[in-house]
Amino acid sequence: MNYRHAFHAGNFADCMKHALLVWLIEAMARKPSPFFVLDTHAGAGHYDLDAVPAARTREADGGILRLLAAPSDPLAAYLSLVRRLGLYPGSPSIIEALLRPDDRLACCELHPEDAAELRQLFARNPAIAVHRRDAWEALRGLLPPSQKRGLVLIDPPFENPDEFTRLTEGLKLGHSRFRTGVFAAWYPIKRLAQVRQFLTSMRKSGISDIVTAEFLLREPLDPTRLNGCGLLVVNPPYQFETAALSILTALLDAIGTGEHGQSVTVTRLADE
Ligand SMILES: C[S@@+](CC[C@H](N)C(=O)[O-])C[C@H]1O[C@@H](n2cnc3c(N)ncnc32)[C@H](O)[C@@H]1O
Repeated sequence: MNYRHAFHAGNFADCMKHALLVWLIEAMARKPSPFFVLDTHAGAGHYDLDAVPAARTREADGGILRLLAAPSDPLAAYLSLVRRLGLYPGSPSIIEALLRPDDRLACCELHPEDAAELRQLFARNPAIAVHRRDAWEALRGLLPPSQKRGLVLIDPPFENPDEFTRLTEGLKLGHSRFRTGVFAAWYPIKRLAQVRQFLTSMRKSGISDIVTAEFLLREPLDPTRLNGCGLLVVNPPYQFETAALSILTALLDAIGTGEHGQSVTVTRLADE
């Protein structure tokens, strides 16, 4: 396990995922009944952008730091949360901030240091369980939740060449355990062919009601670079497509560098 999210915290891909995550959690909270969130690849919870390693990579310069300097309405909820929380919030801290008293969060993280940090962060919050547990196994073990309503965030590090296959299998497994759950899976766009293959296998998976939101900083011609990223959402809440388009457009307006092929697309992959 070489991947440490602290090197990448607050970069454009984190902002894309977290801005959409804020909207998704707020959408879950529009209904009064309690909901459950499973964060399968949780990371350390929050990150000091002024300290090493984030300060060494400076990836946040082209992400959250630029966004905070150019706020816009579609990003207001996300940015106010980032300002309020102080250290740059990872997905568990964002979810924690938006939970209501009866909602619950379970976080899985395999890296021993990140898992320990996360456990310490939430030690006094009985609504949050932190597991040092394999994400893919947790999709079987922790689903379905007793709450009946829920969101599953799947955010793998994509260290291994077979990560897209594992993601497809994980989504199929999770969906078979929790058919009404909202699943949000983040994926990198480095090599376009690899992404298209993933989306084709999802289209053929038999799972209905799938939308993808994709954000490209440039045409993905160089597979060694993170050219963009996507979020695939199963059972998206009402009006997700409209909201995602305006959030990602605002993001591109603020952090796009005008490179050839920069774009935002929201696509329905499978009908309801
Ligand atoms: C991209 S980071 C997560 C970032 C986090 N979701 C956020 O938005 O702040 C991926 C994390 O997954 C962890 N990880 C890798 N393989 C895992 C597995 N099989 N099960 C659980 N966690 C895993 C890594 O240690 C890393 O912290």
